[in-house]
Amino acid sequence: MNMREEIEAAAARYPDQRSAIMPALLIAQKEHGHLPGPVLEEVADILNVERIWVYELATFYTLFHTEPVGMFHLQLCDNVSCMLRGSEDLLRHLEAVLGIKKGGSTPDGLFTLSTVECLGACEVAPVMQVGDDYHGDLDIARINALLDRLRAAAGQTTGADLTAATPPGE
Ligand code: FES
Repeated sequence: MNMREEIEAAAARYPDQRSAIMPALLIAQKEHGHLPGPVLEEVADILNVERIWVYELATFYTLFHTEPVGMFHLQLCDNVSCMLRGSEDLLRHLEAVLGIKKGGSTPDGLFTLSTVECLGACEVAPVMQVGDDYHGDLDIARINALLDRLRAAAGQTTGADLTAATPPGE
């Protein structure tokens, strides 16, 4: 099923096409990796809704990306429970080892680093979401191990030996 067919199938479950914008954007983002203007317009055209409605949702929610993101989007929670359990230190560490600031992406396209509001998993704070996966009870050692696993996974996907790459600052 192509993107148009997937969006049309999702939209058929809603009496009002405007209600289908969120699932349609998720489908489009999965297909394209992010949501540039032409993709937003295509979604609006498929649903036959006002383009501004699609733009509004795509730019309001942090789960949608109108700019390209790395292969792994690191979304570190910086809300109260996570902050009390050290997320600020984790953010500083991630910025140092990746050589980027919050909101940035590594030049190799592997990682984008963001902070987000409560991920709803405060019982295992501090928490970071990577793609669809949650990683909780994080500390610096676990962050380093996670980055190593992600680099190894990227190496398997791309065929490049990324596991030996030493992050800046280590
Ligand atoms: S405050 Fe971080 S998951 Fe709730």
